[in-house]
Amino acid sequence: MFPRNFWYVAAWDHEVRRQELFRRTICNEPVVFYRKDDGSPVALEDRCCHRHMPLSDGVLKGNNVECLYHGLVYEPSGECVHIPSQERVPPGTGVKSYPVVQRYQWIWIWMGDPQLANPDDIEDFHWMDDPNWRAKGTRLQLDGNFMLLIDNLLDLTHLQFVHPTTLGTNAIAKEPIKTEREDNLVRVTRWIPDSPPPPFFQRAGGFPADLLIDRWQVIEYTPPAFVRLDVGGAPTGTASIDGDRSSGISMRNLNAITPETETTTHYFWAQAHNFNIDDPSVTELLYRQVWTAFQEDLFVIKRQQANIEAFNGSLPLQKDFNQDVGGNQARRILERVLAEEAGQAVAAE
Ligand code: FES
Ligand SMILES: [Fe+2]
Repeated sequence: MFPRNFWYVAAWDHEVRRQELFRRTICNEPVVFYRKDDGSPVALEDRCCHRHMPLSDGVLKGNNVECLYHGLVYEPSGECVHIPSQERVPPGTGVKSYPVVQRYQWIWIWMGDPQLANPDDIEDFHWMDDPNWRAKGTRLQLDGNFMLLIDNLLDLTHLQFVHPTTLGTNAIAKEPIKTEREDNLVRVTRWIPDSPPPPFFQRAGGFPADLLIDRWQVIEYTPPAFVRLDVGGAPTGTASIDGDRSSGISMRNLNAITPETETTTHYFWAQAHNFNIDDPSVTELLYRQVWTAFQEDLFVIKRQQANIEAFNGSLPLQKDFNQDVGGNQARRILERVLAEEAGQAVAAE
């Protein structure tokens, strides 16, 4: 079960091309994506209403899709406009059409009630194309339930253990965290004073290995599965958690997590930075570093998921250690959202 009345990232904008049908499963539903002649994206249920043939195996005819099997033709609205064997198309013949919007280099899709789709509700990822920032990212295929990744990003005590050669130092796990909850937002803040810069910061920020720095990690979660991290560091004593941090380097790790199935996830992410923005090699270096670290997370999550299935699909254990407050709050928000949507569905029947 996934929340439906939300905008999810479905693809990078360059993945959906003109003259091409592109199939991707989102929240257990196969969807076919393409672009109209004017470039605007379209998303339809990827199953012909006649005999279940995937429309993504069909042919684009201008702005319409023709099914490969018996040639039914569908408009971007999902409505069937041609049946080769007869003159008349019975009213209501068609497939589901999903609201889609292109923003922040991504194609966003609304999986719920189309009447409720409002592009103003798309999450803020402006760092992706803000002229004061540079960002580079990709999509990773995650062999695990999407919640495992939310847990992972909200509990960075794993940095020291999973990412010892990239993101971690042994100073992280022992530092206290502050967890705040607003209506639909969880914020986990960790301030790591006066510690050696990890390898990642040495390479990206040019900090000498023997310079001590103050580091910060401010992680924000919003449902269903967006996690934005503000991470940075500055020479000890020159920045503060509540105030000015411009003496250091600042990055945003931007994560848009989209369930594919119950056991697989599309992991869209990018790393953005506000320093050395005219040097593409810095953008590339940061991207590479994070990509390398995320391979380590993919391994962990794959192993967790395999074990969940080995233990008969029971839910992951949920111990309430100090480090788990953020992840548990996120789960509570999700449970509430699902309950609200179930209530709305009942009310609508
Ligand atoms: S299955 Fe698509 S036209 Fe028959
Ligand atoms: Fe990680």
